[in-house]
Amino acid sequence: MTNDQPAPDGVLRLINGYWATGVLGTAATHSLFTHLEDGADTAAELAVRAEISERGAQTLLDGLVSVGLVEVDEGRYRNTAEASVYLVEGKPTCLSSFARLKLKHMGSLAALPDVARAGGPVTDPATEMADNPHWEDVVPAIMAQSGPAATIATEVLGLAEAGEISILDVGGGSGIYSAVWLEANPAARSTQLDWEPINAIARRLVAERGVADRFTCIDGDFHTTDFGTAKYDIALYSHIAHQEGPEDNIAVFARLRDALKPGGTLVICDYVVDDDRSGPAFPLIFALEMLLKSNQGGTWRRADYHDWLVKAGFEDVSFHSTPPATLVVAR
Ligand SMILES: C[S@@+](CC[C@H](N)C(=O)[O-])C[C@H]1O[C@@H](n2cnc3c(N)ncnc32)[C@H](O)[C@@H]1O
Repeated sequence: MTNDQPAPDGVLRLINGYWATGVLGTAATHSLFTHLEDGADTAAELAVRAEISERGAQTLLDGLVSVGLVEVDEGRYRNTAEASVYLVEGKPTCLSSFARLKLKHMGSLAALPDVARAGGPVTDPATEMADNPHWEDVVPAIMAQSGPAATIATEVLGLAEAGEISILDVGGGSGIYSAVWLEANPAARSTQLDWEPINAIARRLVAERGVADRFTCIDGDFHTTDFGTAKYDIALYSHIAHQEGPEDNIAVFARLRDALKPGGTLVICDYVVDDDRSGPAFPLIFALEMLLKSNQGGTWRRADYHDWLVKAGFEDVSFHSTPPATLVVAR
C-alpha cells in the first residue's frame, strides 16, 4: 500500500456496520442509555441496574464509545447530547424501540443479494400483506419520528387557527398525527383509515391524549376503501408513498383530491430524495428497505411528487424539511 492510498478504516467500519445496529439495539434492549442518564456511570453499576453481566456491560460501553453515542472520562461514562435526546426512554423523541426493532430486522439483509437480482422481495413482501403483524411493531417505533413532524406540520399548515376542520389520515398508524393536531386545534375532527389492529393502537394513544371524542377510525385497505367526496379539509399520507409504485401513488392522490373540499390540502410526509439522487443520505439508503419489503416501493424524488400531484389535479406543491423526512404540501 502506498502512502497516498486512503486507509481501510472507513471501509472496514462499513463492512462491519451491523456491529453498530447490534450494539445500539442491545444497549436499547437493556435500557443502558436510560440508566446512564439516571447516573449509573460505570460498567459495574450499569450491570447491576440492567441485570446483565459486567463483561457484557463493559463491552457494550466500549462499542457505544466507538460509535460515538457515549463518552468516557477517567473511567466514568455518560450519554452524548444526541444519545440523551434520542435514546433515553420516556422522552417523546426516544428512538430506542426503533433500535430494538432494527436489531430484529438484521437477518433479513442476508437476502439482499437475491433481492437485488430479482428486483424485489424473494419472500412475502411485508408492505403488501393485509393485517401484517409487521405494522404492529413499526407504528409505535416510528412515532418518535412522526410526532416531531406532526408538530412542524401544525405550524406549516396553521392548524391551530384553522377552526372547524376535518382531517383524513390514510395509514395513520399510531395515530400520532391525529393526537398532535387535535390537541393543537380543539375544533378539529380526525378520521384514520388503517387496518383494524393498528386502529386499535391509535385509539389507545388518542384516548391517552384526551382527544378521543373527536377521533374516528375506518378499518380497511386504503387501495379499495372509499374516501368519500368533498368531505375533508386536510388529507394526510405519511410514510406510505415509499411502499407504493408511481401508478398507485397517482391513483391515491387523485382519490384524495376528490375526497378533499375545494381548496383542501393534501400533506405527504416521506423520505424524499433530491432530483439528481445525490442525497440526502438517509432517504437514499432507505430505498433498500423498500427493495426488501415492497414490490414497487422506493424513495421518490421531489420531481416525482410534483409530477404525480399535478397529474392527480393539484395545482400548488411545496416542500418543507422535517429531517430525515420531507413534508410535501399540495393544494
Ligand atoms: C410506515 S407506517 C406509517 C404510519 C403513520 N402514517 C406515520 O407516519 O407514523 C405505514 C402505515 O400504513 C398502514 N398501511 C399499509 N398498507 C396499508 C393498506 N393497504 N391499507 C391500510 N393501511 C395500510 C400500516 O398499517 C401502517 O400503519
